[in-house]
Amino acid sequence: MTHSTTVYPSCSPCVFLLAFFAVLGCVGMQPGRSPGQLAASRASVPTPDIEELIGQMTVDEKIGQMTQIDWKLAKNTDDVRKLAVGSVLNGASSLVEPNTPQNWVKLVTSIQTRALSTRLGIPIVWGADAVHGNALVRGATVFPHNIGMGCTRNPELAEKVGRAAALEMLATGIPWTFAPCIAVPRDERWGRTYEGFGETPELAEMMAGAMVKGLQGEPGQSDGVLACAKHFLGDGGTSQGKDQGDTICSESELRAIHLPGYAAAVKAGVGSIMVSFSRWNGAPMHANKHLITDVLKGELHFEGFVVSDWEAIATLPGSNDSRIEAAINAGVDMAMVPLSYPSFVSGLRSLVKKGRVPMARIDDAVRRILKQKARLKLWEHPFPDAAFAGQLGSPEHRALAREAVRQSAVLLKNQDAVLPLPKNGRILVVGSKADDMGIQCGGWTVGWFGRRGNVTPGTTILRAIENAIPGGKVSFAPGVRGADAADAIVVVVGEEPYAEGTGDRKELGLSRDDISLITAAKASGKKVVVVLVTGRPLPVEPVIDGVHAVLVVWLPGSEGDGVADVLFGDYQPTGKLSHSWPRSMAQIPINQGDASYAPLFPYGFGLSY
Ligand code: BGC
Repeated sequence: MTHSTTVYPSCSPCVFLLAFFAVLGCVGMQPGRSPGQLAASRASVPTPDIEELIGQMTVDEKIGQMTQIDWKLAKNTDDVRKLAVGSVLNGASSLVEPNTPQNWVKLVTSIQTRALSTRLGIPIVWGADAVHGNALVRGATVFPHNIGMGCTRNPELAEKVGRAAALEMLATGIPWTFAPCIAVPRDERWGRTYEGFGETPELAEMMAGAMVKGLQGEPGQSDGVLACAKHFLGDGGTSQGKDQGDTICSESELRAIHLPGYAAAVKAGVGSIMVSFSRWNGAPMHANKHLITDVLKGELHFEGFVVSDWEAIATLPGSNDSRIEAAINAGVDMAMVPLSYPSFVSGLRSLVKKGRVPMARIDDAVRRILKQKARLKLWEHPFPDAAFAGQLGSPEHRALAREAVRQSAVLLKNQDAVLPLPKNGRILVVGSKADDMGIQCGGWTVGWFGRRGNVTPGTTILRAIENAIPGGKVSFAPGVRGADAADAIVVVVGEEPYAEGTGDRKELGLSRDDISLITAAKASGKKVVVVLVTGRPLPVEPVIDGVHAVLVVWLPGSEGDGVADVLFGDYQPTGKLSHSWPRSMAQIPINQGDASYAPLFPYGFGLSY
């Protein structure tokens, strides 16, 4: 499924105003009261007794709670109120324009106001993909993608990053993130390799709980968000690394590799889990009662709710009704149905009527969802809280991200101890990727796929190098020009941004342009340092042969200073590979523990000074 929303006009201020005044009419408020005043007037509603509330709900209201729609796809309707939907999301392409925290706060407030005007006034829970900080919002601190976080081997750092991400989300009024992705990517051809912490279950286990704790905060406090571990189960194990593909293995292998992260996330109290688009031995995960209900909810004692992936129920075989029946009876509690919500609601209604989905299953789903809403104190605080306004992109969070960048960088090669570079030398930086914020942030940044260019404020790798050596000794050229005057050349190369299936590749490697750059740098006879910006290991053995140093910085995010810290020795590298680094495509898939294992750099490899 795609998050295509292009046919819809962007959200204008008049839409907000119209919605706002329409809502005032519904709830009998006097025009002239600001969303803030409205929020204040609603601030003291205590959390109801969940069982009593379920007792008061009609079947339609229960089905509403189980329904999640995309704000942009439903914004010209009154469906949030009419269907009493339980959740609204912004898909990664459904962004407000201009993409400011103030606009997000206005949007969330206006839609929440609609939800509160329903008969029972149950607040919606708004969800978004804040998968490396609240990075869909321009101006947020963009943290390294999880592949880099895995290289830090530092769960305390992951917890702090989760904490900062939560506070930045609350600055936009969004209390639920579809994160952390705890996939264990086993084949680097997969376009989501960078979203997981690394190729071993140990890494998922080590980082998942920490990230969940950071995101969700201390129980009883109102400064956490709801986390969502994803994608259950086996998303990273599909054959040939095909996105949404088939994971072919025995149950014991599936459990050994892909389940430990979930056990850790559940232990840390994760409130929601998203099901994987993928299949296991041909059977779609969204209909897998054994894994969702028996294993996850039963064996692991997961008490939160299970959400489907984007329109994933629609990909199941059979008729509309039989798909819904299979998914809900398998244990899916909330359906992410941005496009198909009308047929989901009517289908589930008729299934309940016919007894094909038992009322007890519906009540269990609704209970799980309402409990998480209660935990978030959404009745007490349904609206964005202005107290968090200063959190987005704060200097403290940027400093933390810089720390995460330096800890995630892995030094693969350092011939003749060419690194750290002296600060009194003359440096030539080459490659257009050196000065490109979009490239260093990657996918899920101010848009689904990310893109080249000045996507969000921050420090590019080039600016960071300049910051590290004041006095104009850094020159920059997209190609290798002016090498004669330099003591060392820093060549920044790597992947273009992508997300999900658009990042699936049959062949991995550097582009022809990047290879030519490195070749020209090598030919100059100067010291050559390659900085690799990438969402996965790339087979580059012949290309890096003859360069002095290679530093892989993954997709570091907005704080390029962390890269310069390592290059100039303000930080001694500590990063350890979260993936085995293949010599060639022929070695992929390659994972620690393989019977024949001869990578270029093994899992866990990383030099220091
Ligand atoms: C992705 C999920 C994401 C969801 C909502 C899907 O396409 O697979 O990871 O959370 O969209 O944006």
